[in-house]
Amino acid sequence: MTEAKPLRAPDLAAMKSRGEKISMVATYDATMARLFDQGGIDVLLVGDSLGMVILGGDDTLQVTVDDMIRHTRAVRRGSKRALVLADMPFMSYQASVSSAVRNAGRLMQQGEAMAVKLEGGAPVMPTVERLVSIGIPVVGHLGLLPQSVHQLGGFRRQGGSQQARQRLHEDAAALESAGACAVVLECIPDELAKEVTARLKIPTIGIGSGPHCDGQVLVSYDLLGLTSKTPPFVRKYAKLDQAVLDAAKAFIKDINDDIAGESKDVKGA
Ligand code: KIV
Repeated sequence: MTEAKPLRAPDLAAMKSRGEKISMVATYDATMARLFDQGGIDVLLVGDSLGMVILGGDDTLQVTVDDMIRHTRAVRRGSKRALVLADMPFMSYQASVSSAVRNAGRLMQQGEAMAVKLEGGAPVMPTVERLVSIGIPVVGHLGLLPQSVHQLGGFRRQGGSQQARQRLHEDAAALESAGACAVVLECIPDELAKEVTARLKIPTIGIGSGPHCDGQVLVSYDLLGLTSKTPPFVRKYAKLDQAVLDAAKAFIKDINDDIAGESKDVKGA
């Protein structure tokens, strides 16, 4: 059997033009990457949500470029077909265009990312332009910007006012004209996401923004039912939390029954 060709940044716009939906999952390690890749997920996002999901923090701000490099390399090792997209963490691109170039370069070279994602619209346009001009594909991120959680006053839905809607349209157009290959729309009204999706040639990937985007993204631990607190828009496609609890209990029982160390499958399956 021939192996599927790996997806690359230009394939995303091609998928939109063919009317094919894009699937994206935030993934942080080689094992999960292998499974989601085999399952056919198009884009494995090494999200800076790893600061919350993996490192147990309250937000994403403590994640470093070194953290992202380590996890991106792991995801790349686990995957064959999916496009591996790495988040640029807080303060890795805000200080200057040159620091953004340096850090995006490290994510591509040391982390083996195939594209990077950064948050914001018009203010990051010069950075997006520069990265794209040197061959680094960029995905934008608008709406709820987790790296601005303190300024936003929490993880709140965005795009409610007429002014915010107008700004979001302008930011999306700015990202497209700067050369971004896709844009994530997080927690904005369904109708606004639909309008932005219709206006852009590049694909929109929604999270908590309704069904009309060109693709959807969820955090792997949320969609697998491993996290206890999930946003209301998250659909759980499995209940792995219960499976883990059951496995832990079964293991403890086998230890107490003095059969856990046997070298064959003690359940005889
Ligand atoms: O970090 C992340 O997982 C993300 C997604 C929520 C889009 O940016």
